[in-house]
Amino acid sequence: MYNTAFRVLEVLEASDGPVSGEQISGSMGISRSAVWKHIKELKGMGYEIEASQKEGYRLIKKSNRLLPYEVQKRLRTNFIGRKMRYYESTPSTNAVGRQLAGEGEAADLHGMVIVAEEQTGGTGRLGRSWVSPAGGVWITIVLKPGIPIDHVFMVTMAGSVAVARAIRKEFDLGALIKWPNDIYIGDRKVGGLLLELFAEADQIHYCLLGIGVDVNISPGELLGVKRAVTSISAEMGHDVDRAAFLARLLREFESRYLLIESGEYEALTREWKSFSSTLGNRVTINTMKATFEGEAIDIDEFGALIIRKDNGKIERVIAGDCIER
Ligand code: BTN
Repeated sequence: MYNTAFRVLEVLEASDGPVSGEQISGSMGISRSAVWKHIKELKGMGYEIEASQKEGYRLIKKSNRLLPYEVQKRLRTNFIGRKMRYYESTPSTNAVGRQLAGEGEAADLHGMVIVAEEQTGGTGRLGRSWVSPAGGVWITIVLKPGIPIDHVFMVTMAGSVAVARAIRKEFDLGALIKWPNDIYIGDRKVGGLLLELFAEADQIHYCLLGIGVDVNISPGELLGVKRAVTSISAEMGHDVDRAAFLARLLREFESRYLLIESGEYEALTREWKSFSSTLGNRVTINTMKATFEGEAIDIDEFGALIIRKDNGKIERVIAGDCIER
């Protein structure tokens, strides 16, 4: 990702005032016309750069795209997001993950983050479509977890906790997790997670954790979505720095993911519970086999929701839809 254009950008970022083309070309050992070409490239990526014959180039405003350069500059992780793939537009970042993992060695992709400005065919849980206009955070994290397959849902739990924590820390908004993997602010959905698992027998080949958060999106752009939705910008009353948010999210995710890898399921479950909007509520559960009501009383170390039905019987739900009453 460190192509020459970003090295030019670093020079501009390091200076308070304008920098002449001559200075840049001298310090980087490239021609002045190459400097001009890279400035043009940066402008095309959304950086606002003022150019004057007399003074040179001055960075006015950074790009508001979710460019790997902007995210990685802020990234405090060891392996999550150290490799990134960026798309201005793609059908679905999970589809990109599937393709990459199909072509190469999944272990080499461990921790890779695929980012898209917009998705034209985003998918949600249960095959639903996921509206993904520009301004959101649409990512897929590719993982090759070394955990028992029956604990794989914990990867989604780690993701949900990371999203809730990142929203709380960056924006001071009270994000909550609705089982199994929806992120809510108040009674409106702001994000969701989707885990795709590729396994043979009980061996995990790889998994894809898709995360979508409505960040700088006006609720009008989500009109096609049936449920009540919100976005971070709608809650804050202004647009926010998506790169800083994503860097925080990835850091929060890495530390929770490491808890799973080291078998500390209880610590993660405890944290998930502290953000849960579901526990303690009356819920209606729809699974492939049945629909029933009861009280959501707990979540176990496999991510299953524990329901006490009205007749006192306890049900363990590993997959399904949950409507909170
Ligand atoms: C849900 O709540 O139904 C889960 C939504 C998951 C959406 C994300 S956006 C990035 C990734 N790519 C997709 O196509 N889906 C996930």
